[in-house]
Amino acid sequence: MNEELSLRLARLEDIPALEVLIPLSVRGLQGGVYSEAQREAALGPVFGVDRQLICDGTYYVVEQAGEIVGCGGWSRRKAVFGGDRGRSAEDEGLDPALDPARVRAFFVHPAWARRGIGRRILSACESALCAAGFREAVLVATLTGEPLYAAFGYAAVERYEVSLSAGLTLPVVRMTKRFGNAENSP
Ligand SMILES: CC(C)(COP(=O)(O)OP(=O)(O)OC[C@H]1O[C@@H](n2cnc3c(N)ncnc32)[C@H](O)[C@@H]1OP(=O)(O)O)[C@@H](O)C(=O)NCCC(=O)NCCS
Repeated sequence: MNEELSLRLARLEDIPALEVLIPLSVRGLQGGVYSEAQREAALGPVFGVDRQLICDGTYYVVEQAGEIVGCGGWSRRKAVFGGDRGRSAEDEGLDPALDPARVRAFFVHPAWARRGIGRRILSACESALCAAGFREAVLVATLTGEPLYAAFGYAAVERYEVSLSAGLTLPVVRMTKRFGNAENSP
């Protein structure tokens, strides 16, 4: 992990920077797996800022020299993906004893890809969700995100397509991981 990078909880004041970062990440890093039309249609309804996670204190940013270069988080609420624009009301809460926590909305700046930022945020999420009493996590990964979660021991349980506008779809994969008492991450 690069020493210059620092992780902290996201704040509402970060939203304008996140709204710049997310499209940069999607356009810069998903080209190998999704078409331009799929990426543009998914920006907003699928890929976007979810203020609930920021308000809940479960969303992180990684900064380099004061600039946000990565973000991602977890959730104690029902939704498995989607920004504010995909939701009309506050999302229902989960029961840590019964439900899996959600891992949500990881985006890294293309210039900072593959330098351990995703790994750092995911480790923080896993520590926090376990501390909150969850014993399982579920996520819906893009095909770009799948290798990161697989590297942390998440298993693919379902492949399906999210409906987008104009008859487009986005192939994604639902992945889960159970946590025991042992080490949670590689
Ligand atoms: C998915 C994403 C967040 C990964 O972030 P990252 O900071 O580049 O990931 P890391 O550097 O921490 O990678 C950790 C491990 O994940 C795996 N991994 C990550 N990106 C990978 C890739 N493109 N190909 C293969 N393995 C990859 C590797 O095992 C890697 O470890 P290694 O570099 O030591 O081999 C980033 O690619 C991204 O923002 N993608 C666009 C947005 C998106 O699709 N987000 C996922 C939403 S579910």
